[in-house]
Amino acid sequence: MSLLAHRNSPVPKQVSIVEVGARDGLQNEAAQVPTAVKAELVNRLAAAGVMRIETGSFVSPRWVPQMADSADVFASITRRPGVRYSALTPNLQGFERAVAAGADEIAVFAAASEAFSQKNINCGIRESIQRFTDVCDAARAQGIAVRGYVSCAMGCPYQGAVPVADVTLAVRELMALGCYEVSIGDTIGVGTPLQVQQVLSACLQEARADQLAMHFHDTYGQALANLLAGLELGVMTIDSSIAGLGGCPYAKGASGNVATEDVVYMLQGMGLHTGIDLARLVDTSQWICHQLQRRNQSRVALAMGNRNGDH
Ligand code: HMG
Ligand code: MG
Repeated sequence: MSLLAHRNSPVPKQVSIVEVGARDGLQNEAAQVPTAVKAELVNRLAAAGVMRIETGSFVSPRWVPQMADSADVFASITRRPGVRYSALTPNLQGFERAVAAGADEIAVFAAASEAFSQKNINCGIRESIQRFTDVCDAARAQGIAVRGYVSCAMGCPYQGAVPVADVTLAVRELMALGCYEVSIGDTIGVGTPLQVQQVLSACLQEARADQLAMHFHDTYGQALANLLAGLELGVMTIDSSIAGLGGCPYAKGASGNVATEDVVYMLQGMGLHTGIDLARLVDTSQWICHQLQRRNQSRVALAMGNRNGDH
């Protein structure tokens, strides 16, 4: 019996994983990753049972050159029925490119920190919400679902502490724009479990638990503990990145998202389902690390690799 079950916690039995490795994971890679590798990563993730895959980003290629080929990635993947392939769009231009590429859903990304908003998307929070209004209106007209992000919910690389009220304001505005889900980003991985519960509890005044997601980078090694804290509040959607790849180019020093393998292993141990085959996920993780010549950041992938005699 799980620790949480003992505590009669309202933890849901099904957890939805949003794999962000092909976007958040790769966007920070200095060397251009071949389009074919990106597409194969997406295909392997889908084959492992991942149902929601952030496949690319239609941002300015001058700002994030690594994502310049997102349309080609969309054109190269083999779509699996039932899998949702999504993309980031900062403005109408990005939205139109995403739709032309065949994205199933899009995501707009706001911040709880003014300074981060300026650095990341070259405009303040107010103006970004105005831009997202246009994007959301266009998406609604075309029947395309929109997800929202709130970056720097637990702290900002430029401003430091971020008031909880600034996080909840962003959640409220994104919900008002029609986002079906808002992902709460610990962009630089500084949060700790009780802080996460404080922030998420406040967000739960603005949105239901099934309208929130947790997007935690693991810079300070707190992400799994933080996810558990959020699960205890009933938030059942988790963003994660295969092999713990990634980081935001506009948040220096921030490491990758929590590794998908580590999340799936933890959830399995707690009797929570994701529909993902852990062994296939670990194979994919080892494969992408080999392609990128990167050390695997997933402890579970490392442990399972060692167990299989694969060093
Ligand atoms: P800007 O320079 O202010 O844009 O950038 P602009 O509207 O003045 O346009 C300048 C040029 O960019 C023009 O081209 C536009 O056509 C072009 P020019 O006439 O000079 O040749 N342009 C575009 N090209 C392609 N696609 C577009 C697009 N928009 C303009 N969509 C902009 C503003 C928002 C575009 C820029 O700042 C940008 O692309 N920022 C994105 C930064 C980014 O991708 N950051 C990482 C993702 S966010 C993240 O990782 C956090 C997250 O994971 C959650 C978390 O962890 O917290 C989501
Ligand atoms: Mg991120």
